[in-house]
Amino acid sequence: MAISRRQALILGGIGIVGAGIVTVPISGVSAKSASKLSDSDMPRPYRTPLTLAPPLSFQTTVDANGVKTQHYTLTQRLATAQILARLRTPILGYNGIFPGPTIRIDKDTRAVVHLRNQLPAKHPKLGYALPTSTHLHGSASLPQFDGYANDLTLPGFYKDYQYPNFQPARSLWYHDHSVHFTAQNVYSGLAGQYLISDPVEKGLLPQGTFDVPLTVSDAMFAADGTLGFDDRQHSGLWGDVILVNGKPWPVMKVQRRIYRFRILNASVSRSYRFTLSTGDPVTVVATDAGLMPAAQTVGSWRHAGAERYEVLIDFRKYAAGTRVELRNLSNDNNRDFDNTGKIMAFDVVADAVNTADPTWNQIPSTLASSHPMDLTSAAATKTRKFRIKHDDVTNIWTIDDLTWEEVIASGFKRVMADPALDTVEIWELQNSSDGWFHPMHLHLVDFQVLSRNGQPPFPYEKGPKDVVYVGERETVRLLVHFGPHRGRYMVHCHNLAHEDHAMMLQFRVGLGPDEADPNDPITSSPALWDPVQG
Ligand code: C2O
Ligand code: CU
Repeated sequence: MAISRRQALILGGIGIVGAGIVTVPISGVSAKSASKLSDSDMPRPYRTPLTLAPPLSFQTTVDANGVKTQHYTLTQRLATAQILARLRTPILGYNGIFPGPTIRIDKDTRAVVHLRNQLPAKHPKLGYALPTSTHLHGSASLPQFDGYANDLTLPGFYKDYQYPNFQPARSLWYHDHSVHFTAQNVYSGLAGQYLISDPVEKGLLPQGTFDVPLTVSDAMFAADGTLGFDDRQHSGLWGDVILVNGKPWPVMKVQRRIYRFRILNASVSRSYRFTLSTGDPVTVVATDAGLMPAAQTVGSWRHAGAERYEVLIDFRKYAAGTRVELRNLSNDNNRDFDNTGKIMAFDVVADAVNTADPTWNQIPSTLASSHPMDLTSAAATKTRKFRIKHDDVTNIWTIDDLTWEEVIASGFKRVMADPALDTVEIWELQNSSDGWFHPMHLHLVDFQVLSRNGQPPFPYEKGPKDVVYVGERETVRLLVHFGPHRGRYMVHCHNLAHEDHAMMLQFRVGLGPDEADPNDPITSSPALWDPVQG
């Protein structure tokens, strides 16, 4: 048998440890720059207007039972983006843009996304092959439509992804999930927002132009304006340029009213601690999986990769002409640069506010008590514990000493847990290596954060979640309801460099180990050759 990837990494890893590179943890390191741009090409904060990803258009069909389906097409292609003032940057984009188009859909309307891979055979700069797998993060999709890492769509092929959208209103995002290259692919641009609306959210929170998706990421640039990629021996990528919706440190004009921001951290590795320059608090109204039971007023919040927080910012009190900055206080274990403490700015304008819109001055305190926030730990029938850590010998990131390589080697059978359908469990995640934080994500489910190091979760985490920040030396307990589908779903760190190497396992809901799986994530709905090319 050929040498396995893990064995190769073990062999290669010995040399790395010998050189003493990977064993040094980082803690709030400040470095001068990561980009190699000339001084005049290096972007500066607050010089460019905020832009929004365009909405994605669709066609609607209604079946004999009156069920509505919206049909979308997304084409992954190589394109260039104007991120820097004078240089073009090659990206991989859904419809050729970063972030990809925003999908907005009402709850209980199904979606089919015709996902085309029209990428070149190889990444133009990094050289690896470009099969993709697309995950709608936050959706309870069937396994074959969940972006399973090894359910690959090759360049020239397409796959029709079906999304149920029966879940309460929430901010989701779609992004690449292909095995071993998720970090490079997402970093190159394969990410976009997907927003489910419902009447509850519509009655409480700002809509339309006052409901603003903000996709935050970090990047580093080579001298020619191409994206640099350095994951520091698979520990993490730390860019020195902050992008919001693909623009460096943009500025947005705001009226003197309340705005809703859907903040997604789409960075490969970086976490943020967002705060306002005025010292005023924000009101957190929704977490990853939708509205919180009660709004939480906070001065700052810790926000790791893939987490979504919806916040209300109240601009009523600021005089026209005031600039309010969204800043980043950072967290342990990031690498910070001169301007990574800045995110974007809001310039308050004198435009007349439409006070007929009741959300202009409304900060609701009670929102929605949804599942699983209505559960208590008494509902749990089992407690499972997982240790997440770095293996210093092999330079591999592990969950209970296992990785996705063992899942692959088992023919995708090996699982970390096999909960019965519709059971509730407590999952305890322990981060037992110093120097790193791990945003842990469970596919399929929404969960409640019960505790962190025995203490209650942070106020802003008291809502339904699908990613949890497991900081250095932290142990987090989650209350998880497994359903509504049977099948195999991934669990992984959302530091994408960790995920790719290979901090990812899977659980299996409601199926025996050798039971036939009608929703096999790889074989039940394979990608097809695309008759239309280009
Ligand atoms: Cu956002 Cu498994 O991913
Ligand atoms: Cu991690």
